[in-house]
Amino acid sequence: MKNIDPTTTASWQQLLQFSKVHRDLQIKDLFQDRNRFSEFSIQLEDLLLDYSKNRLNKDIFSTLIALGNDCGLKEAIEAMFSGEKINGTEGRAVLHTALRNRSNTPVFVNGKDVMPDVNAVLAQMKAFAEQISSGTWKGYTGKSIKSLVNIGIGGSDLGPVMVTEALKPYQNPSLEVFFVSNVDGTHISETLKKVDPETTLFFIASKTFTTLETMTNAHTARNWFLEKAKDEAAIAKHFVALSTNAKAVAEFGIDTQNMFEFWDWVGGRYSLWSAIGLPIACAIGFDNFEKLLEGAHSMDQHFRNTDFSKNIPVIMALIGIWNTNFLGASSEAILPYDQYLHRFAAYFQQGNMESNGKYVSRNGEKVSYTTGPIIWGEPGTNGQHAFYQLIHQGTHLIPCDFIAPAISHNPIGDHHIKLLSNFFAQTEALMNGKTIEEVKAEMAKAGKSQDEITRIAPHRVFEGNRPTNSILVKQITPYTLGQLIAMYEHKIFVQGVIWNIYSFDQWGVELGKVLANAILPELEDDKVISSHDASTNGLINAYKKFRKL
Ligand code: F6P
Repeated sequence: MKNIDPTTTASWQQLLQFSKVHRDLQIKDLFQDRNRFSEFSIQLEDLLLDYSKNRLNKDIFSTLIALGNDCGLKEAIEAMFSGEKINGTEGRAVLHTALRNRSNTPVFVNGKDVMPDVNAVLAQMKAFAEQISSGTWKGYTGKSIKSLVNIGIGGSDLGPVMVTEALKPYQNPSLEVFFVSNVDGTHISETLKKVDPETTLFFIASKTFTTLETMTNAHTARNWFLEKAKDEAAIAKHFVALSTNAKAVAEFGIDTQNMFEFWDWVGGRYSLWSAIGLPIACAIGFDNFEKLLEGAHSMDQHFRNTDFSKNIPVIMALIGIWNTNFLGASSEAILPYDQYLHRFAAYFQQGNMESNGKYVSRNGEKVSYTTGPIIWGEPGTNGQHAFYQLIHQGTHLIPCDFIAPAISHNPIGDHHIKLLSNFFAQTEALMNGKTIEEVKAEMAKAGKSQDEITRIAPHRVFEGNRPTNSILVKQITPYTLGQLIAMYEHKIFVQGVIWNIYSFDQWGVELGKVLANAILPELEDDKVISSHDASTNGLINAYKKFRKL
């Protein structure tokens, strides 16, 4: 990958100029161009992206495209898809796209085509998922599996949680799915209360098979299971491992026959397409899991082969860069108008923030510009009654992605049109706002006194001009969900390329882990601690006093 400081490019400098010249650009004025919607929206199969409600005119748009070109984006995309080691700090390829490479064209890492291994694990997953869903996989007392418990954290948890929640309408009704991630004993305890060892299957999901939280929960689950089953041989029927680390899996006591492998070129937060997706495949059936892969593959093909000016992930990324680096936004909200997508924003909180939350550039120096934004969000309409106040009238610029399906899986009465009327209204309100004149006229019409109008009207003004993207899909199906996830994955990748950072490592999570490991033995007895700074010592010693009460 090229190593280009984006601020040194002509396009970046031009965008800087535009951000000054067009400081007062009003989104609503841009709609004087009657073709704005058709020119600033793209449809890919049953997915429509409308990016017309952004502070973006044609000049800005074409200069953003030029920025992509100036930063070597085309070559970077090819480098990723073709298995080059673009994860430079770990010396690894980045090939989640190979996991869903439905065209099955060879993809080489170190001169070896990875597709035969990918297909072999998919075949293993298919055979296993079919045994679980048909009830032919039996537990140690001969009963079929009813409860699936995934034990994992971060990328080994969030993807499977988000997808199984999003695709609940497709879930096998004879199975219940649980996820345990937190090392807080409450999480596993509350889960174990709900399941029966005779009918429970545990997925120990960890790329490294060393993660403290996952290994602690896995050992607790194993002990709980053995207390009931009283037979180590029974473990083979109730524990499977999803990992890259066969040695650690064997040491834990899981037969490597029950291990579903993946590889170091699969990043944790990009791993739901790999063996990490096994609980998804069991819950919704392997056919549906394949449709999820197909949807992602369709977005991959679009991303790899489409001109930047019509390329959905590229455009979303460039708009994000415009908002972040030129309009000063520091966060982005993801707002799905679909209850099944209630973990979507949380999923991309890791996807985006662990990938692009970096201040060191690919040349090892501190960047002089803003990189990854803070990602957050909740489903509409709940968010409207919680934090939208700040999006409409706060002092921060919060670009928002609104996501909605045209067809609900639960078409009860008029719920869905009420939901969607809010989806449409919010982006309109965020763009148009409401002027003081409009507020005053409205209040006068409602018979308010002049005094009240003068006092209250300023509080009821909406500046508007808040940028939004709308993503409308026909329905949330395995296929469209696959497209949506891949769309955001590639958006993150494009931004990382342009910001000249390494998006596929996560060194920033290491320090806390190391210090926690150092503190752990200090908590094992009641000795007064003095080895840290005064605050940390004070907190540890107060904790030791409190826990005696
Ligand atoms: O701590 C961060 C992290 O390494 C994530 O990147 C990863 O998804 C998570 O921990 C879990 O790691 P593993 O799958 O190896 O248990």
